[in-house]
Amino acid sequence: MAQKSTRQEIEALDDPIEDYPGIDQTETIIGIWGHPLHAMTVAFPVALTFCTLGADGLYWLSGELFWARAGVWAAGTAFLFGLIAAATGTAELLLVSGIRIHAAAWTHAVIAVLLLSLLGANWGYRLYGYESAVLPYGILLSGFNTLVVMATGWHGGALVFDHRLGTSKGK
Ligand code: HEM
Repeated sequence: MAQKSTRQEIEALDDPIEDYPGIDQTETIIGIWGHPLHAMTVAFPVALTFCTLGADGLYWLSGELFWARAGVWAAGTAFLFGLIAAATGTAELLLVSGIRIHAAAWTHAVIAVLLLSLLGANWGYRLYGYESAVLPYGILLSGFNTLVVMATGWHGGALVFDHRLGTSKGK
């Protein structure tokens, strides 16, 4: 009997991921007319994280109490809007079969949970005295959070533009 070629042997192998019944279903279901709510909600925690760093920097430069107060509000709203963004992202992750099967989507969720805990810490720390909290630890945390939010946003973008998650199929 003729030996099978290596190519035939490879073709005969089953890829369990390719065989997953829902792998092609990656369209958003938590959206409005096919536009994911997650993409709409993530803009707020991203922008507010940058605002917190900006307010801290301006407090450092000017010493104005106004900027320390702006910092505590920006930190708090970054965290609260982050929770809303996480709720829409988690629903998408758990309910859409083609998103759920992608390891990269779970990696994004892990980075996002780290980000949320840092955003919560930056807000909670300021609640014990928002002016004294800014220098040095508040501003250091805001700088670190800005790096983590950039990494989270970049990775989320990779899910959409590289893995095509949350997008509708081309017509
Ligand atoms: C546990 C929390 C999260 C989960 C499970 C999650 C999941 C996802 C998923 C599945 C996508 C693909 C698009 C879609 O299906 O909607 C996505 C995209 C994205 N995520 Fe998240 N996400 C979470 C939290 C966050 C947070 C807190 C941020 C930023 C503050 C963020 C930033 C992004 C960005 C920028 C995109 C790309 C959106 C686009 O360009 O359309 N995510 N995320």
